[in-house]
Amino acid sequence: MTPRFTGKRVLLSGGASGIGRATAERFAAEGARLAIGDVDLAGANAVADTLGGVAFAYDARDPAAAVKLVDDATGALGGIDILLNVAGIMAWGRFEETAPEVWQRTLDINLSGPFYLIQAAIGQLKHSKGNIVSVASAGGLHPVYGTSAYGVSKAGVIAVTQAASLEFARYGVRVNAVAPGGVATPMHEKSTAGGGVDPAIFAEAAGRNMPKLTDRPACTPEEVAAAIAYLASDEARYATGTVLVLDGGQITG
Ligand SMILES: NC(=O)c1ccc[n+]([C@@H]2O[C@H](COP(=O)([O-])OP(=O)(O)OC[C@H]3O[C@@H](n4cnc5c(N)ncnc54)[C@H](O)[C@@H]3O)[C@@H](O)[C@H]2O)c1
Repeated sequence: MTPRFTGKRVLLSGGASGIGRATAERFAAEGARLAIGDVDLAGANAVADTLGGVAFAYDARDPAAAVKLVDDATGALGGIDILLNVAGIMAWGRFEETAPEVWQRTLDINLSGPFYLIQAAIGQLKHSKGNIVSVASAGGLHPVYGTSAYGVSKAGVIAVTQAASLEFARYGVRVNAVAPGGVATPMHEKSTAGGGVDPAIFAEAAGRNMPKLTDRPACTPEEVAAAIAYLASDEARYATGTVLVLDGGQITG
């Protein structure tokens, strides 16, 4: 396959682990130059070092950190062509038991993070006529039992994607999202009884929102990275405001 991102300057949040790491690897393999922002600076540095990129400490909750990350990435790369919002956290808990701190932290990282980073990067992206891909979730399109704060945050990412696509189309900047179901990453490993989730929640949720494609292993981070790469590439030049779902049929009822 011809590399699709030769010389493209890519700013990626959450690149230290899981989907973000696989996405960094995919874009680097296709010729991109990478800047990674992550709260886990050591992890981000390790990924950047193996891929020839740069890494910066970044906390998605902080609007000033978004501005600094864009400044740092622009300084290192000379501009930004593609912004990838991948950083995020999972939050399990029944609706009526979700503590205000959990609700707020989930929204701050998963929803405000992409909003702030898009705001900070849009000037560069207007200049480059670049594009944005954010990682939402199938749980943002159809609720997954016991994950209301997370689902609301990811529904918000979809709304941010659509609102931004509407306003930025006139600048030639595309804005899209992917919505995975369960993906085998460190986050997903924590989404188990062994990972600390109350097993009773899984019992209550039994049979709801399960993938329908049961004849194959769960979605991999590399498959999500491939979907992100498609949306960020010129092959998707007519796609904006789009949400590409990879959930094995989870939300189809
Ligand atoms: N794994 C799944 O099943 C799944 C499904 C749908 C969507 N997603 C989404 O995919 C994205 C990546 O998840 P993953 O499964 O790779 O998880 P992961 O835990 O492996 O990676 C998440 C990354 O985000 C970083 N991060 C966490 N909090 C941060 C903060 N405050 N500021 C900056 N960086 C922060 C972490 O350090 C880590 O590098 C998330 O947005 C997640 O919600 C995951």
